[in-house]
Amino acid sequence: MAIPILITGATKGIGRACALALGQQGYALALNARSKDELIRLQQYVKQQFGTESMVYSADLATAEGRDQLCRAWNPLPEAAVLNVGNFATGPLLSEVNGLMPHLQNNFFAAETIALSLIRAWESKGIQGKIVLINSIASKELRPEAPAYSLSKNLLRQWAEALQKEVLPLGIQLCQIHPSATHTASWDGLEFDPSQLLKPEDVAAAVVHVLQAPKGLWHTEWVLRPGNSDYF
Ligand SMILES: NC(=O)c1ccc[n+]([C@@H]2O[C@H](COP(=O)([O-])OP(=O)(O)OC[C@H]3O[C@@H](n4cnc5c(N)ncnc54)[C@H](OP(=O)(O)O)[C@@H]3O)[C@@H](O)[C@H]2O)c1
Repeated sequence: MAIPILITGATKGIGRACALALGQQGYALALNARSKDELIRLQQYVKQQFGTESMVYSADLATAEGRDQLCRAWNPLPEAAVLNVGNFATGPLLSEVNGLMPHLQNNFFAAETIALSLIRAWESKGIQGKIVLINSIASKELRPEAPAYSLSKNLLRQWAEALQKEVLPLGIQLCQIHPSATHTASWDGLEFDPSQLLKPEDVAAAVVHVLQAPKGLWHTEWVLRPGNSDYF
């Protein structure tokens, strides 16, 4: 199998759009989500639509066990990754029964652990890989309606900015994409005007652009907004 691109949270929303866009470009894929059935359905779909080969890695990246399971499974080692797993929830900090930890697990550690595992493997093999982190516009300013989400994404942004400097001499690239509100299942049950949201395909197009940028052109950060929106 060709060297794959890893996509975490690949079966729905932005992750699925990335899988289809990259599959269409002919890249081999390493697909992660929790539901194995959904992963196999997606694997079959990209093969049928584009002739693209993919591997599936069912693992819950909100748990240390799931992250460990994925990090021990590389075969072959991906040379690029779209780290997309994240969980959106609104509500005051006072209503967080388990505190910030569930948000940190989904929105920070799910990316941090996998990124470090890949970077260490790339460093030992001299591979100049690329990581695209799907962060959020909510990482840039505190969202009062979703403070725990915002704080966890803010940590991810600052961590990535620090790590970018560390991996620069290795030729390893780390790009954060910050979509504003994007029409996915994360919005189920909320009231919104769909014309004011990005489409998952918009974010996937940016991911493809970053991964295909010519050698020497490095994207570090990209904020995506629909032209007509007041939403964050
Ligand atoms: N939608 C927005 O408005 C928006 C805006 C800015 C940024 N973002 C960011 O974009 C990313 C994707 O959001 P989305 O709205 O596309 O999500 P989504 O539609 O809810 O899809 C989530 C995907 O991740 C998988 N997943 C969820 N929890 C997981 C876990 N613990 N371990 C492994 N896989 C997991 C799901 O499959 P399983 O359920 O089978 O695991 C599914 O494939 C997130 O980081 C989010 O913060 C979203």
